[in-house]
Amino acid sequence: MKSIAIIYGSSTGNTKYAAQLIAEKLAGYSPVLKDIAEVSPEGFPEAEVLMLGCPTWSIGELQDDWDTFFPKISKLNLNGKTVAFFGQGDCEGYPDTFADALGILYDEFAKTGCTFIGEVSTDGYTFDDSQALRNGVFVGLPLDEDNESDKTDSRVSAWVNSLKQYLD
Ligand SMILES: Cc1cc2nc3c(=O)[nH]c(=O)nc-3n(C[C@H](O)[C@H](O)[C@H](O)COP(=O)(O)O)c2cc1C
Repeated sequence: MKSIAIIYGSSTGNTKYAAQLIAEKLAGYSPVLKDIAEVSPEGFPEAEVLMLGCPTWSIGELQDDWDTFFPKISKLNLNGKTVAFFGQGDCEGYPDTFADALGILYDEFAKTGCTFIGEVSTDGYTFDDSQALRNGVFVGLPLDEDNESDKTDSRVSAWVNSLKQYLD
């Protein structure tokens, strides 16, 4: 069984809620839950699997606390670690930049030597464009508490179940 850390940034609580939901569904793995606002590069969790949550703000930008941490990402050595992304967005209010933050983090964490898991099909999502797309799929799990809160639990469950093969 792998060690898991769930690290989130959240300005209005929605990504924090998602992080807690993921932690609940992975309770058997006793995941560590951290706010990126309280994480330093030196104190970056040592877990084997890192689940990183960032909502999109400011029209296609990272959430503030992730934005502050961003310049430190490329200096992390995450060789041998596995990384998965999740984050809240608003597909109706910001259909051209839906969940962009996932793609921005993906490109930066690609410099750290980690391996990525947790991509998600666009099936069931309505949006026009997203920086989170690679080869037609999302690099992580987009959630939309603003418009589709009724889908959050099932989306999180399906995602967590798809990751289990990498966690045991
Ligand atoms: C000013 C503003 C800009 C936003 N920009 C985007 C955006 O570009 N793309 C997107 O998907 N969501 C965008 N959102 C929606 C937020 O990502 C969404 O409300 C999310 O649930 C916030 O998560 P948090 O509570 O974890 O901070 C924006 C919201 C606001 C208020």
